[in-house]
Amino acid sequence: MEILITSFSLLTLLVVAILIGTRGRPMRFFTAFGESMKAIWANRGPLFWVAASVFLCLGFVFFFYASPATRIGAVQPISFSHQLHAGIKAIDCRFCHPYVERSIYPGIPPVEKCLYCHNYIIANHPEIRKEHNYYNSNTPTPWVKVFYLPEHVLFNHQRHLKKEIACESCHGDVKKMDRLKGTRFKMGFCLKCHRAKKVNVDCWLACHS
Ligand code: HEC
Ligand code: HEC
Ligand code: HEC
Ligand code: HEC
Repeated sequence: MEILITSFSLLTLLVVAILIGTRGRPMRFFTAFGESMKAIWANRGPLFWVAASVFLCLGFVFFFYASPATRIGAVQPISFSHQLHAGIKAIDCRFCHPYVERSIYPGIPPVEKCLYCHNYIIANHPEIRKEHNYYNSNTPTPWVKVFYLPEHVLFNHQRHLKKEIACESCHGDVKKMDRLKGTRFKMGFCLKCHRAKKVNVDCWLACHS
């Protein structure tokens, strides 16, 4: 979807640029463009191939890093949005992730919790119907996990939250994300903050089980 929006906006910009550049006679652009393409193709030398590869690489970089579609995370079974719930509706993170201070498994809320509200709010929305289906058939919602640690690392939220480290410093600006863009945490990320805050960096003892 976002790819479509991006491409569409780029196309619109291009059309506007052509219209302005040819003062309202777009066909001029195409004839001129055709002529110059023919000329370039006829005289193609090393420079042509260099330019073409640079162009391709830039396009690649754009779609992998800059386009909005790549800035959001995995598709989830229900199109749940943190931006809507935690941001706009300002529901506390701990309402849905209540074990975050107490357990190494902060927990993803079971659908019962969604239904506290959604039995009343937009109860017939197709996405909410899916919640009912999961609930009635006793199937846990197959949420896709997006934040990972290497298997040999133990992470405990508790000590971090006691020191009032914000969720955002590790999970990014969750309140502005529809779909969470996860990450695979690397040790460097943990160590950078531990060094800055002068915490134990004797990681083999502290973090590795
Ligand atoms: C505290 C109340 C509350 C809880 C709990 C809650 N929601 Fe919502 N949800 C809302 C409100 C308010 C809206 C906005 C309704 C509207 O658009 O009128 C909403 C909207 C939605 C929408 C529709 C978004 C759209 O595209 O219009 C989905 C899907 C959704 N919630 C899924 C969930 C899921 C899944 C859970 C459980 C993990 C959940 N909600 C828990 C209050 C809640
Ligand atoms: C209305 C319930 C609700 C609220 C409020 C909420 N979350 Fe979530 N959270 C979910 C659901 C459902 C998932 C699983 C689906 C997903 O990843 O989008 C989830 C997933 C996550 C995950 C990803 C876990 C993983 O590895 O997949 C993180 C991190 C997270 N939430 C952090 C937060 C933070 C931080 C806040 C507060 C700013 C917050 N959540 C508020 C319901 C909620
Ligand atoms: C110091 C970094 C850090 C902070 C701060 C932090 N988290 Fe996490 N969080 C992690 C890491 C690392 C994982 C992955 C743990 C794993 O896979 O074992 C994680 C996983 C999660 C998960 C997914 C758990 C699951 O069962 O898949 C949720 C939900 C979550 N965090 C919510 C929160 C909330 C809410 C806050 C703020 C109250 C918060 N986190 C603050 C680092 C952090
Ligand atoms: C934003 C800063 C920050 C980040 C990022 C962070 N930590 Fe921490 N961590 C702290 C602070 C501050 C403490 C000290 C808490 C205390 O004194 O009880 C701590 C303590 C710990 C401890 C306990 C150390 C001890 O002395 O026993 C472990 C284990 C740990 N962190 C693991 C991790 C891992 C694994 C990651 C990466 C996924 C991580 N931390 C990322 C700030 C951070």
